Amino acid sequence: MAAAPASSKDKAVKESDDEKKVQKEKKKKDKNQNLKMKKEALGWMEWLRGWLYIIYEMLFQRIMASHLANPMPLLPINDLIFIVTGSTSGIGRETARQLAEAGGHVIMAVRNPKAAHDLIKKWQENWAGRGLPLNIEVMELDLLSLDSVVRFAEAYNARMEPLHVLINNAGIFSIGEPHKLSKDGYEQHMQVNHLAPALLSILLVPSLIRGSPSRIVNVNSIIHYVGFVDTEDLNATSGKRKYSSLVGYSGSKLAEVMFSSVLHKRLPAEAGISVVCVSPGVVQTNVARDLPKIVQAAYHLIPYFTFSAEEGSRSSLFAATDPQVPEYCEMLKADDWPVSAFISVDCRPTNPSEEAHNVETAYRVWEKTLELIGLPSDAVERLIEGEEVGCKYGASDE
Ligand SMILES: NC(=O)c1ccc[n+]([C@@H]2O[C@H](COP(=O)([O-])OP(=O)(O)OC[C@H]3O[C@@H](n4cnc5c(N)ncnc54)[C@H](OP(=O)(O)O)[C@@H]3O)[C@@H](O)[C@H]2O)c1
Repeated sequence: MAAAPASSKDKAVKESDDEKKVQKEKKKKDKNQNLKMKKEALGWMEWLRGWLYIIYEMLFQRIMASHLANPMPLLPINDLIFIVTGSTSGIGRETARQLAEAGGHVIMAVRNPKAAHDLIKKWQENWAGRGLPLNIEVMELDLLSLDSVVRFAEAYNARMEPLHVLINNAGIFSIGEPHKLSKDGYEQHMQVNHLAPALLSILLVPSLIRGSPSRIVNVNSIIHYVGFVDTEDLNATSGKRKYSSLVGYSGSKLAEVMFSSVLHKRLPAEAGISVVCVSPGVVQTNVARDLPKIVQAAYHLIPYFTFSAEEGSRSSLFAATDPQVPEYCEMLKADDWPVSAFISVDCRPTNPSEEAHNVETAYRVWEKTLELIGLPSDAVERLIEGEEVGCKYGASDE
């Protein structure tokens, strides 16, 4: 039987019902948004899932990465320029050495230039007779000083050379140390692991464009899975959360993922700059230098579970050189959800934490970060247009 045509009264009732439905949906959305905005910590289920994920990676990283050769074979990178921060120790040291041995031009961006020169001398001696001398140089960079970051970027940009890969590797995890602020007034983990690398990445955009297709590789950590960022309290001084070095470290690493996601989304495809975060795994490096002696001893007693620095450098090397990485980043850019590429210990793409997918917080982290590092909110767009962008740091000659 054919349905009877709807009368205008029925139509009006239906339209008002639809309207009510839309209003209800909107209210629900606003409520969810408010709830998200008011979030003051990770939910306990998120926190538990985060820890399970971390424990899983710690126990099984060797199995997960069993398909990878060590050292990781690298494709020829002869004409490429790499900046590696924190390359005097651990993962960064291995990354710099292997890139140079594969023919890359490596700039060690370090706070202790003498230690870097000593390393270069040793590497050149070991390399003698195996090819041309390694192409490595040293530039001073102290991430605990935003003035130093600006001076570094200005000096590099002034060379008018391309930059193909920036590896933001330097990091601290000051286990057991009390709450400390940098001379710029920011919590030390937040400054070294997030704010300073963010400033460096943005200020180097002109050189990265000259080197396009180029990459920013952020050496992150699976610990960001238990991190939480309160953009109103990046220094963790409000007392809302009890400070510990874990709170500082995990929050700074999550902030780095969120910032990377928005940066990746804001860089237009034509700029040709890929942004990628990596997890190196649990690696025996100096990162454990602040652990109590007994815990350090235990750490060294479990070599089966922990990676050597050479093994730990594979995800950085992969993200910095594999030809598929830019394609993958490009594919993510087309997604509505702004989450940057995240490469796991096994050099495969993985998802950052649930909280890293919180778009509102990611945009707030972006805005707050630009404010704290003294850049205007349209800094990236202006640098891409070739304009000069002023930063409130960098004037000091210290
Ligand atoms: N090891 C792990 O299990 C692990 C796990 C996940 C993520 N990560 C991440 O991997 C990265 C490398 O760490 P790592 O394990 O190789 O540790 P590491 O051996 O302690 O090396 C850290 C490097 O960062 C440099 N650095 C520290 N503070 C700096 C500052 N203010 N300015 C400039 N450079 C600074 C250090 O310089 P100095 O040599 O002068 O001290 C060192 O070269 C870090 O981002 C870390 O968070 C490590």
